[in-house]
Amino acid sequence: MTLAMTTRSPDAATRTAPAPPRGTDPFGLGVASGDPLPDGVVLWTRLAPHPLEPWGGLDDRRYRVEWEVAEDDRFREVVRRGGAWATPEYSHSVHVDVRGLRPGREYFYRFRSGGQISRAGRTRTAPDPRRRLGSMTYAFASCQAWQDGYFTAYRHMAAEDLDLVVHLGDYLYEGGIMPSGGVRNTPVHDGLRFRCDTLDRYRLQYGLYKSDPDLQAAHAHAPWLVTWDDHEVLNNYAGQVADESVSSVADFLVWRANAYRAFWEHQPLRRAQRAVGPDMPLYRRVAYGDLVEFDVLDGRQYRSDQACGDGARTDCAARLDPARSMLGERQEKWLTDGLAGSRARWKVLANQVVMAQNDFDPDPGAQNFSMDFWDGYKASRDRLFRSIAERGVQDVVVITGDAHRAQAGDLTLDFDDPGSPTIGSEFLGTSISSGGDGSAGGLPPGRHDPVNPHVRFRDNRRGYVTCTLTPHEYRASYRLLPQVSRPGAPVATAARFVIESGRPGLHAEEAR
Ligand SMILES: [Fe+2]
Repeated sequence: MTLAMTTRSPDAATRTAPAPPRGTDPFGLGVASGDPLPDGVVLWTRLAPHPLEPWGGLDDRRYRVEWEVAEDDRFREVVRRGGAWATPEYSHSVHVDVRGLRPGREYFYRFRSGGQISRAGRTRTAPDPRRRLGSMTYAFASCQAWQDGYFTAYRHMAAEDLDLVVHLGDYLYEGGIMPSGGVRNTPVHDGLRFRCDTLDRYRLQYGLYKSDPDLQAAHAHAPWLVTWDDHEVLNNYAGQVADESVSSVADFLVWRANAYRAFWEHQPLRRAQRAVGPDMPLYRRVAYGDLVEFDVLDGRQYRSDQACGDGARTDCAARLDPARSMLGERQEKWLTDGLAGSRARWKVLANQVVMAQNDFDPDPGAQNFSMDFWDGYKASRDRLFRSIAERGVQDVVVITGDAHRAQAGDLTLDFDDPGSPTIGSEFLGTSISSGGDGSAGGLPPGRHDPVNPHVRFRDNRRGYVTCTLTPHEYRASYRLLPQVSRPGAPVATAARFVIESGRPGLHAEEAR
């Protein structure tokens, strides 16, 4: 669309800057906002008139992008505006750290470059930290393999009334895309066939994923709080350790640096989170008034290597080794101290892999664990749980991705002792598309899994979870879809749970 965004004349830098080619939409990857503060948000876009071409179809010049933030979706009440440079070093992405906004308010934003205007995005600042907040609603999601199915769940998410979206990782998968486009049966060009390793190859993968209209709709609908899991880099990597397909730690650190940089380029994150070489400071804390604090975890960058050979689901002594950590020493301390010192009612841990004990062996005399889950880092989990119990931290909720199934349950101090106290609850939010259609059923809401009695619900369909928090209750609704192999599937609530503040443990409610 080409029209006047504002009557204001462009600044000198904009007048002399090169423009993206006319006749193409330079905003083909959409717009996004993220990491809300009481006085601001980050606005994101990337100029890419041809997302699947090198450099998104642009040359190696820098381009001027103007942005504006308004109180209304017709942009009559513009409250902030400015300009930014989209540079080739960061694949012509822009990350605008807008400040000076009012707390707990809805805003609209858009970008302009070369006379072309982006779609408008809606965002919302975090509430005043001193305010007693009556309620907030957010949705969380993870795991969106493009070739496994449509992102229909995001279309439904974008129709909900949300303050925030939390993404728990596997935003993309590093593997090559078959030319047929997989389940989507949408042919893609040959350059996507091999798995991601170089910076430009990761950028192409983001170009493909972020071209998805349903994903764009969800980004334009609410601010996002993102973290990552393994597939933003490489399957099941742990800290500086990759699988045997990468020949050395030095090689893997180059690989990781490419992946981290591409992640930052394509997410609504502040400069403070930008990757420097193979390091990216991603774990952080975001508060919503006195109601909830989100501890956004990074369970990949600092973790010890998987015990007992990754993937081997047999028990071994290394699983219990207290020297091993899921979060690394610094993040572990940051988390336990933050939880103990928090004045927020609800403490939500935005977490990657399953935290509750998850015995895969139906034989009551045997146990069988995934070494990639928290089960593979038992001493690290015990330290966290003991700290929560000993320091009297209440109302802890863990939200989790990675497993491609919906699951809800309680977290107990000792999962092998039926009388052990509950210290929190965990909601696993299935996947957006990874794993394909899946199937209904598994464990009806409220029942106890016979092997893992703290688990109270399981379902193998795709979707997301919507949570509404008040000072008294935490409510979670599993929004699941019958299939993702064709576009346009409906969504329905498959299970609902409530946790009462001060009374640990979740309860199933009748789904509507
Ligand atoms: Fe995944």
